[in-house]
Amino acid sequence: MHKKELIEYGDQKIEWARAHMPVLEIIRKSFEKEKPLEGRRIAMALHVEAKTAVLVETLAVGGAEVAITGCNPLSTQDDVSAALCTRDNISSCAKYECSNEEYYAAMDKVLAIEPDITIDDGADLIFKLHTERQELLPNILGGCEETTTGIHRLKAMEKDGALKMPVMAVNDAMTKFMFDNRYGTGQSSWDGIMRTTNLLVAGKNVVVGGYGWCGKGVAMRAKGLGANVIVTEIDPIRALEAKMDGNLVMPMKEAAKIGDIFVTTTGNRDIITREHFEVIKDGAILSNSGHFNVEIDLENLEDMAKGVRTVRKNIKEYDLGSRKVYVLADGRLVNLAAGDGHPAEVMDMSFANQALCVRHIAENKLANGVHAVPKEIDMHVAELKLMSMGVAIDSLSEAQCEYMCGWKSGT
Ligand code: NAI
Repeated sequence: MHKKELIEYGDQKIEWARAHMPVLEIIRKSFEKEKPLEGRRIAMALHVEAKTAVLVETLAVGGAEVAITGCNPLSTQDDVSAALCTRDNISSCAKYECSNEEYYAAMDKVLAIEPDITIDDGADLIFKLHTERQELLPNILGGCEETTTGIHRLKAMEKDGALKMPVMAVNDAMTKFMFDNRYGTGQSSWDGIMRTTNLLVAGKNVVVGGYGWCGKGVAMRAKGLGANVIVTEIDPIRALEAKMDGNLVMPMKEAAKIGDIFVTTTGNRDIITREHFEVIKDGAILSNSGHFNVEIDLENLEDMAKGVRTVRKNIKEYDLGSRKVYVLADGRLVNLAAGDGHPAEVMDMSFANQALCVRHIAENKLANGVHAVPKEIDMHVAELKLMSMGVAIDSLSEAQCEYMCGWKSGT
């Protein structure tokens, strides 16, 4: 596509997303007036698509210089990246289908602005800062982390005494994970799977690996599409919850024999591996919505396969002799690598948290370590979202407040 056309298409996508992100729009207006990020330099590694672009614009409007790259080799939308580069104080070095070397080289490019604030989705940027670019650490006021896997990595760094900067655990805000991870991943994973395969979900056996926030969303929407849902878990409480939510629960070894479509959402590795490929049904479709492409063991699958070919965009066929297995988007997050990611209305809340946490970092001196998103930010995002949806709620009366706080009233 010609560059001008690419930019126009990216602009259209960003405009559409912006129109459906009313909470971020309110924050953008306040940033425009108050310029809380004046003079700040922000380095970001996020999925470079339209909703992220609206966040980037908001930060730049707040006075920051922003440099962004991708956080996954397959999730960048080149038109959005090109459109972002036309904005003042914004640069993007993200590229779709980049090699591993290009992916990490782009991180060095965004770090060239010598950031004082970082935003990560998966903690790759922070990892680079702590390994190869430690000379930049003294400048850093703090960072924000978008996803569960990134928080796991950062907490592990903190535990080992290796984390040398403050980081806000944006993923752990209630207005993030309860909505983004559940409703966002739930809807967008099926969008990615359905637009890629153009196959029916109704009547199929859908296996969901992991019943965390993402898994619950994926299972809930699969049920709505008419699938028989099977959940695999390692946590007895989550397994029980899955069972009482009406799903079948069994080990992957059993589920592998009967599943038609698999979606892994564990944030862990080796969820579907050789022992499962040995018994998997002919025609099974494998996809992943967890952050890294380590949930489906593609190395072993490739090793077992007599042949591998692309049969349709984002679908690879692995010929196992008597059976054929299909992997979507090379086992990378199916909703982003084979779709447009979460709906804008959901990212509105996630990125409102990001914008307000960046402001929090700019205005407060935080100690090194992983910080929870302040309750006021979480509540503020929920209130703004309700307001934008035209939903009013009750408030506590004085008597109710007293009753809730006291211990003397009984029957
Ligand atoms: P979570 O921690 O709420 O859930 C993960 C679940 O997987 C837990 O219940 C855990 O017990 C289970 N699990 C772990 N190992 C397992 C195994 N071997 N077999 C079966 N179950 C296992 O995490 P959450 O928030 O649901 O995130 C999951 C992954 O999705 C993370 O990598 C996260 O970064 C990513 N994510 C992806 C998004 C997307 O757009 N595709 C959006 C948000 C998160």
